[in-house]
Amino acid sequence: MNLLITGGAGFIGSHVVRLFVKAYPNYSIYNLDKLSYAGNLENIKDIERAENYTFLKGDINDSTYLGAIFNKYKFDSVIHLAAESHVDRSIEDPIAFVKTNIIGTINLLDQCRKHWGDNKEHLFYHISTDEVYGSLGSSGLFEETTGYDPNSPYSASKASSDHFVRAYGETYKIPYVITNCSNNYGANQFPEKLIPLFINNILNNESLPVYGDGLYTRDWLFVEDHALAIDLVFHKGKIKETYNIGGFNEWKNIDLIRLLCNLMDQKLKRDEGTSEKLITYIKDRPGHDRRYAIDASKINKELGWKPSVTFEEGLDKTIDWYLNNNEWLNNVTSGIYKEYYGKMYFK
Ligand code: NAD
Ligand code: TYD
Repeated sequence: MNLLITGGAGFIGSHVVRLFVKAYPNYSIYNLDKLSYAGNLENIKDIERAENYTFLKGDINDSTYLGAIFNKYKFDSVIHLAAESHVDRSIEDPIAFVKTNIIGTINLLDQCRKHWGDNKEHLFYHISTDEVYGSLGSSGLFEETTGYDPNSPYSASKASSDHFVRAYGETYKIPYVITNCSNNYGANQFPEKLIPLFINNILNNESLPVYGDGLYTRDWLFVEDHALAIDLVFHKGKIKETYNIGGFNEWKNIDLIRLLCNLMDQKLKRDEGTSEKLITYIKDRPGHDRRYAIDASKINKELGWKPSVTFEEGLDKTIDWYLNNNEWLNNVTSGIYKEYYGKMYFK
């Protein structure tokens, strides 16, 4: 099996690449990543010398390059994670999201169409998000049958790429599967998303910018459990199916932030309440989705997946990882990081 994984130097992709390289020594794993601000080879340093692993630096928007690597490596299947992934950045620069998330996905699909023909022994696995379903009221859960209703440029670009995957499946008979997952947290997440940003800011005694009233709800899943779900769906998922992945783990932002502050005070041996003082309510994110919550019963019933760690365990491991990986954090927050985060217009 020659398996192409895109975006494998990023947050979720690095956990997926590591899992596959270790669990499947008989597969040849190719990691294609352009190494954007969010891609970092340090994330997969421990497996870079593995015999079944090859890193390919390239852009999914470069179809000539894609054609060359498809010719050379004859990929049997693709797990596609490469994307622009942060909602706030999509508000600042929507076109970048259209280019990578929509056009980049189509470029990959097109290579599969050209190289796979009618052969059914392939799989295009698209990693997507629950944000395509839009926003929930105070009750209800996103099911696989929930209609798409994206509100941010990020979620609109992911919704569009999901549609193109389906369209290529119907039109050109490319075998595909799609999973839509809730918010991930864990090691190696770039400190722009809520949990690593706030860990970093607490460490540096900087303010914790809470958007709007802080009563927005997200459903959090430990990244290693997402990677295990991806492994299961890749091997056992039914062609043309969609599976929702989530931890039945809803938190209002402000409750999660208070929990994080308490845990950080304990770990840093600071007085109780020290980190909470950094909380600053700021202007809301435009188009901010009120609530996401996943019904993950299909993947549980059909494939037997469920999260392996509780939120308390996952968060504890995550905080410890950031505390023990100061150099990683310093590296990714050096250079233009501070300038960028200082100028986000709604902060
Ligand atoms: P990330 O931003 O941490 O990593 C994305 C990776 O893609 C980076 O390594 C980057 O260098 C690479 N990349 C970006 N543009 C590229 C291009 N044009 N060509 C090649 N490589 C490119 O993202 P993540 O949080 O790991 O998300 C991975 C995937 O999972 C995305 O498709 C995202 O939509 C999806 N997802 C993320 C979450 C989440 O909570 N983070 C939840 C559900 C789904
Ligand atoms: P985020 O980690 O950006 O993920 P997403 O928007 O894809 O769900 O944000 C999670 C929640 O935290 C979301 O409701 C926005 C909120 N948030 C803040 O209040 N302040 C921040 O600085 C960030 C980054 C997010």
